[in-house]
Formats: sequence, structure tokens, C-alpha cells
Amino acid sequence: MTVQTFIPNGAKAASENTVTQPTHTTDVSIKKLYIETQGCQMNEYDSHRMADLLGDSHGYILTSNPNEADILLMNTCSIREKAQEKVFSELGRWRKLKDKNPDLVIGVGGCVASQEGDNIQKRAPYVDMIFGPQTLHRLPQMLDQHNAQVEKPKKDKIKLIDISFPDIEKFDFLPEPRVEGFKAFVSIMEGCSKYCSFCVVPYTRGEEVSRPLDDVLAEIAGLAEKGVREISLLGQNVNGYRGETFEGGICTFPELLRLVAEIPGIGRLRYTTSHPLEFSDELIQCYEDLPQMVSHLHLPVQSGSNDVLQAMKRNHTIDVYIDKIAKLRKIRPDMHLSSDFIIGFPGETDENFAETLQFIKDLDFDHSYSFVYSKRPGTPASDLPDTTPEQVKKERLAQVQKVIKQSSIEKTDAMLGKIERVLIEKVSDQDPNILIGTADNTRLVTFVGDATWVGRFAEIEITEIKTLNFVYGELLNLEPDVA
Ligand code: SAH
Ligand code: F3S
Repeated sequence: MTVQTFIPNGAKAASENTVTQPTHTTDVSIKKLYIETQGCQMNEYDSHRMADLLGDSHGYILTSNPNEADILLMNTCSIREKAQEKVFSELGRWRKLKDKNPDLVIGVGGCVASQEGDNIQKRAPYVDMIFGPQTLHRLPQMLDQHNAQVEKPKKDKIKLIDISFPDIEKFDFLPEPRVEGFKAFVSIMEGCSKYCSFCVVPYTRGEEVSRPLDDVLAEIAGLAEKGVREISLLGQNVNGYRGETFEGGICTFPELLRLVAEIPGIGRLRYTTSHPLEFSDELIQCYEDLPQMVSHLHLPVQSGSNDVLQAMKRNHTIDVYIDKIAKLRKIRPDMHLSSDFIIGFPGETDENFAETLQFIKDLDFDHSYSFVYSKRPGTPASDLPDTTPEQVKKERLAQVQKVIKQSSIEKTDAMLGKIERVLIEKVSDQDPNILIGTADNTRLVTFVGDATWVGRFAEIEITEIKTLNFVYGELLNLEPDVA
């Protein structure tokens, strides 16, 4: 889990006011918003939308300093217990800020709010607003309600808590995303209906709901017009996408990819996260037909043992995963593959674990994420007997992480002498003749070039490996601007 302060455009956000343009120009004292984001890319996306919403409706601008904020928002994650505990410890710190400044407004959103809304009210009564992942579009109204009852005595105040899963999608109420740089995330669906036995997501974010096709395409076309060249399609289970078309039909995920690839300006396509079960032949075929698709795939498998996969209710065997990857690598031999692994799932034996370790080696993954199983209240796996000592789980995790790290070092090293397609993103702060971009496999690539090339794609020959994530190269070919 990552915990990060949300500052689009870095420190420039507050001073240059490039992200959240105040609309209330009569207000001389500009109000400041601080957002702490925990967890996944979906939460990062949601935090951006919260900032956009409050910027548009109330003129808030972002600050990276909670001490100078008028509103503090925490966008929480409950995927593992540790993440959830952090919410209350951080809220304790925020309480002290509120003691100093009673006008400070504190809001808690995200998956912990969704699951623990009432508990937050009890344990942290100084929190003013509680909202879920599907109700964040109501933040401006919640804030108005809060402001309207500030003067009222405590007993007359209504509790501002809305963690429902409304039928109407939040996307209908969100402002157009603001663009920073050449990459953008576009959420195409919400929630998950897979109900893996360990996972809290279906309960905190609700069942799968896909955004209508036209909305997604219009958003991407708008982003491309503003200079975006790389799109990452987001969802908990993107290949479960079933977006309604304008004619009342259904568009599948591979069909969506083909339509997005036709939008002028989109030179690169990523997506996260997908499920092996719905990783269809049609989706694999897209890698042959669409040059915009990166040779990098994050496909969580969770375990290399069929027994564990069954207990996890992943609904497929290891062979299914292996076959799909083999098909994909036939089309794209250079495919960089990453995955998620849960170690120490209830009942995982030494033998099961050894199978996972071997599987990781056999599949030749690039970087993967691995976590010790965390029991989540309300999930089916929380009732399973779990006799493996915590220490054993930690040792297994350390072994897995060692293998994963070694594998990603090898992947970086193997880039030497290869040609990588790079999206040129910026000029180096240190040297105006040095450009920095990203390769398909997310490594940063630097090379000598001209500042006017920023925003274009280039073929770069890798000449030196600097670190795990950072390589040097030389320009071979500069592609014409894709717009
Ligand atoms: N949609 C993704 C998963 C999203 S959750 C999928 O298709 O699998 C992100 C990752 O968190 C999961 O892949 C899993 O590895 C991890 N995770 C989820 N629940 C967990 C739990 N209870 N304990 C430990 N790790 C968990
Ligand atoms: Fe969770 Fe499984 Fe969905 S891991 S997000 S229930 S695919």
C-alpha cells in the first residue's frame, strides 16, 4: 500500500493554481484543500476528481501542507488491515490541527469510510463528513450542508454521512478531468463482482458498473485534444467492462480498446487491473492488431498453487494462466509481465508455497507485488481456519520478494542494447539538452535531445543501465506527433 500526499503538478499546485482554478473570484482569501490518498490507482483517480470538484464548486486550491489547509480529506484504503489502522492514527494527528483551528473541516472518504462509516463517527466524532467511493461527487453539497449548520448547537446538527451505492453513476456529476502532462488515467468501471474469498473490494466499492461507452470515448478524445498521449484505463476488473453503447448494445473490453486506439493522438494504451479468467482471445488479439498497446501487463494471479487458487475462489487453475501468457508471448515475445501474490492464505502449506515460488520463476515475471494475507471482516476467507504462524508467513514473503526483485533486476539489465519505444515526458531539471521519458515497461529512459520533442514518441537504443528503474539511451528515431 502506498500512502501519499496528493499534489498534482507537485508544489506548483497551490502557487500557480494550475490544477484547481478558483471560480469564486470575489473571495479574496483563497481556501486550501489537502488530500491524503491511500491505496490503489482508483483512489488516486478519485482524489483528483475530489480536487476538481471542490475547485470548481467552492474555489479550493490544493496544498501539500496540512497545517495551512481549510479542509483535510483522507481517501482511505481497506484492502489490508494495516492500511485501515493508518486511518485512525492519521486522524488522531488531524484532530490536533482541529483543536488549534476549530473551523478546519475534516472529511473521510474511500473504502474504510464505506465499510467503517459508523465506527469512524464513534471513534473520531470530530470528522465532519464521511463519504464512500461512489458518493464523492456529492462532496460539494455535503460541504454546503456542513457550512450551513456550523453555528447550530451540536444536538441540532445532522450527521453528514453518505456511503451508499447510488444507482446514478458518480461520473455524471464529475467535472472534466484536468490535464497535467502527457499521461492520464480514465476510469471505465467501478466495483467488482468477482468476490474472491479474501477481498473486501466488492463490499466497499460495490458490484461492477461500467461507464457508458460514449462517455469514456468522449473523455479520452477530450484528453487527447489537450495533449494527452498515453491513456491508462482503470477499474478493479477492467476486462469485465460491459459498457452500454449509444444504440443500446454492449461494448466489451477488447472492443473498447480498438475504439480508443482509433482516437487521434492516443499513442499508448495501458490498463489495470484485469482478471485472468476474462483475459480472452479477443483481448490477446488486440496485442497483435494495436501497436498502441504496451508490452507490459499487470495480471494478478495471487498464487501458484491450484489448491490455494480454489480456496481463494479465483475460478481458474494455474494452467489457464500459463496458457494465456504463452499465447500473449507468442504475439509479443518482449512482453513484461507483472502480478500480485498473496502469501500465507489460510491453509497454504509449505508445498503450496513452494509451488508459488516455482511458478514465479517459471513465468519469468518482471516486478510483482506481494503481500501477507490479511484477514478482512465480512469476507468468506475470514472464517477459514488459519494455523500458519505469522513468522512463517513473513519468512515466505521475504523469499518471494527476493525472487521477484532478482527477476526485475534481470529484466532491467536485459534492456541493454535493446530498442525501446519511449514517450518523451520532460526536459531534465539539471540539463536542458537531456530528455526523460518512459519505456513500455515503465523504466525511465534519459537521452540527449531537443526540448521541442517533449510529448512525442521516440525509438531509443539503451546504452547504459543506471539503476533498477533508470536507464540511459541514444535516439534512433523520433516519431511524428501522433495528433
Ligand atoms: N482487481 C485485482 C485486485 C485488486 S486488490 C485482481 O484482479 O486481482 C489489489 C491486490 O491486493 C490484490 O491483487 C491482492 O494481491 C491484494 N489483496 C487483496 N485483498 C487482500 C487481502 N485480504 N490480504 C492481502 N492482500 C490482499
Ligand atoms: Fe478483489 Fe478479486 Fe475483484 S481480488 S477486486 S474480488 S477480482
